Formats: sequence, structure tokens, C-alpha cells
Amino acid sequence: MESKPMLLIVDDERPTREGLRAALEDRYDVYLAEDAATAMELLERERFDVVLTDFRLPKEDGMQLIARAKSLSRPPVCLLMTAYGSEDLAVEAMKRGADDYLAKGRLQIDELELRIAKALRTQQLETENQNLHRQLDDRFGLEQIVGKSPAMAEVFEIVRQVAPTPATVLIQGESGTGKELIAKAVHQLSPRARQPLVTVHCAALPAALLESELFGHEKGAFTGAHERRIGRFEQANGGSLFLDEIGEIDASTQVKLLRVLGERTFERVGSGKTIAVDVRLIAATNRNLVELVKAGQFREDLYFRLRVVELWLPPLRERPGDVPLLALHFLKEIAAAYGKPVREFTPDALQALLSYSWPANVRELRNAVEGAVALARGDKITRRELPPAVRGLGGGLTTSGARAPVDAAPQTVREAEKQLIIRALQETKGNRTLAAKKIGVGRRTLYRKLHEYHLDGL
Ligand SMILES: Nc1ncnc2c1ncn2[C@@H]1O[C@H](COP(=O)(O)OP(=O)(O)OP(=O)(O)O)[C@@H](O)[C@H]1O
Ligand SMILES: [Mg+2]
Repeated sequence: MESKPMLLIVDDERPTREGLRAALEDRYDVYLAEDAATAMELLERERFDVVLTDFRLPKEDGMQLIARAKSLSRPPVCLLMTAYGSEDLAVEAMKRGADDYLAKGRLQIDELELRIAKALRTQQLETENQNLHRQLDDRFGLEQIVGKSPAMAEVFEIVRQVAPTPATVLIQGESGTGKELIAKAVHQLSPRARQPLVTVHCAALPAALLESELFGHEKGAFTGAHERRIGRFEQANGGSLFLDEIGEIDASTQVKLLRVLGERTFERVGSGKTIAVDVRLIAATNRNLVELVKAGQFREDLYFRLRVVELWLPPLRERPGDVPLLALHFLKEIAAAYGKPVREFTPDALQALLSYSWPANVRELRNAVEGAVALARGDKITRRELPPAVRGLGGGLTTSGARAPVDAAPQTVREAEKQLIIRALQETKGNRTLAAKKIGVGRRTLYRKLHEYHLDGL
């Protein structure tokens, strides 16, 4: 059963308070206060939906009470009552935040009920509206991702196109290139944005635990399984599941994952019952999966299932044009958070940022800027405030080892493009004009690409 809205009645005359209580307690959970101070105490302690207050109160008046009530973090709906109607007072009350104004003398109980209900409804609509706006802001998941290099523009383009589909997305790139950010954007730009995005960091868990983390387990399934546990796949039902560092999962979990990807069904550990889920899978890794497949550490069939759409995030050193943009983006964000008036980089600081190779990519750049903002004294970041490695004084990470297979990138982007074209043609039942429109290219370009990908027959 739904609980009744909480209503606080503030009036210094006892008969009025009690009378209103008797009239409204069917529909509301009614509390009483005889002055503004008592009312504020209650308001700070409980979460009220509505305050109905008399204007004339001892000490602080009803208008002042409303002004204070409206400054609470979750302000209640406030209605002001007066003994006699006065237009000036009504205008003033609304200015101070009252949601409605009632003249007691003429007021019928059923009208009072109606006005309260209406004010509540209006507030509810406003809240819904605000939530909607917030969701819309979040929806533009790509907006906080900075980058104008052609390589990143291509990534954004693919994200925009595949996000609305249910296709599995595999994001590859060195550590710190923004894989998690892109994974979130894919979810945010999908029709599942209002459903959960559940993340599992596969490398953080030992093999035995990962399996029950993903699929859940029944009580007593293994020593230590005291309770039944719902796995991440079930939690993500209707939404997306982000498997981060998927290159780290063990052979047995790989087999199980392969099956979920194919059939969208699985069993909890220690249970024979098959569970079906509707989950969009997003995976990321900083390992080279092709190498892992070659080395026999990653199943080839799983790799193929995962890379329905493949995204490669280029290392920062391959998109130097993004460095100043990102640096300034972080500078603004961090300076605001630190409350420091730092606005820009001196030219030689920028030069140092541009000359450095950023082996740990965007994450390293962000950390460098954060440190510099912390040290900065004026409104500019100078070279002096940058980490020694960035200033060319050594002590940084090396780029060896972490290098992603760069030359594989264009090929896989092509793969993604090919997939898009196939999908567009399927969706438009082979209508090339419509398909071209869908992909956002001209008809001629589409024909050329069909030829290039040997898809002429489609
Ligand atoms: N293009 C970008 N615009 C703005 N911020 C970015 C961008 N790319 C990365 N970042 C920021 O850099 C940091 C590292 O990004 P993220 O965690 O997504 O990297 P990752 O590829 O998942 O790294 P790892 O492989 O180590 O998990 C985060 O703070 C992220 O917000
Ligand atoms: Mg990550």
C-alpha cells in the first residue's frame, strides 16, 4: 500500500489546527505545529510533502516560515492561509515561494483538498521535468569526451551509429585512452539509457569468484556461499553489461560467456535452472586480443562473438592535436573543483605537454594537470608546475610494452564500417538510397564502399 503524503499544519489557534486535522487526516499523514520554530524543527527532522501555514503566527510569520521551508534541500509544497483575502499578501506570498494562497474565511474543505492536491501535482510534474532534463544532459554521453583528431572523430561517429543498436561492442586501446568513458557513452546513447549499466572489472577477481560474480550462485553452491546471490548479468537485465579488462578472464568463464553471448541464457553457480536475460554487452581490454588468441589464452570463437563492432582508441601520442584541448578541459574542471583561479597554460608549459609522449595516455595527462593546478600560484600553469617526466627530466613511464597494434586499427574500423553497411541494408531491405541516408553518406559513397567490401551482391 502506498503511504499517505506527509502534511504539516501550522496555526497558533488550536481549534483551527484540530479542525483541519480532522478534515484532512484521511488523505494525509497530518502533523501539527503552533509556531514557525516548532514547524522548522519538524521540517528539518522529517520529510514533509506539504506545509499548510497560517500567515499570522507569533514571532515569525507564515511567509517567513515558507521562505525557510523552501530553502530545504527537498522543499515541501507550501500553502499560505490568511484570515482575510488580500491581493498584496497573495502576490508577496507567491514571490517568497508559496505554491498557493488561501483565504480562510471563505474556504470550503473540499476546495482546500483540491488546492493541496493540485499544488502537489504541480510540484511532482516539475520534479519529473527536471529529471528528464538531467537524463537528457546525461544522454549526450559524447559531450564530455574531448577530441577533435580525425581518429577520435571516427570513434565518435561509430559510437553514434552503433549505440542505438543491440550489437556487442568491443573497445580496445592502451591503458588510459578512455575506454570506460566510451563504454558509458555507448550505453547512454542507447535506448537502454534509463536501464542500468552494470560494470564488472574482470581482472579484479580471481577466476572462481568471477564466475559467481557474473552469473550469481545459489546458497550453498560452494564453501562460503551463505546466501543466494544475483549475478551481474541478471542485474543488468534490460540494460547493458560492461565487462572491463575482458582479456583477463579464465578459460572456464570464457566458455560460459560464449554461451550467454549466443543464447542469452545461463545458470547460476550451483543451480540447474536456466535464466534468460536481455543484456547488451560492452567489453573493453588494453590487451591485444588477437595476440592472446594466437597464444591460446583467449578463445577465438569468443573473440569473434565479442567484436561484432570493434572500436580502437588511439594512444594519445598519435593524436597530439588533442593534447591542448584535453589539457584545457581538465584545467577548467580541476580549477573549478579546487576553487583556484587558474585559467591557462603558459606557452612553454603547452610546449612541454606537446613534446611528451604520454605512455599512460589521457589518464596521465589528467593527473599531470591536476598536480599542476594544485601547485599553481597565479592564473597560469607554468612549466615548473608540470611533473619532471613531462618537463623532459626523466622518471616517467616508458612507452614500450604498452603499445597497441596500431596498424590493426584501420582494418578494424573498416570492419565496423562494413558491419554498419550490412546492417543498414538489412534494415532497409536492400534499399540503397535509404541505407545511404541511414549511414549518413551519399549514394555514390555507399556504392563505392559496397564494391570495396565486396558487398555488391547484397
Ligand atoms: N577523450 C577524453 N575526454 C575527456 N576525458 C577523457 C578522455 N579520454 C579519457 N579521459 C579521462 O581519462 C581517464 C582515463 O580514462 P578511462 O578510465 O576511460 O581509460 P581506460 O581506457 O578505461 O583505461 P584502463 O585501460 O587503464 O582501464 C578518465 O579520468 C577519463 O575521464
Ligand atoms: Mg578502464
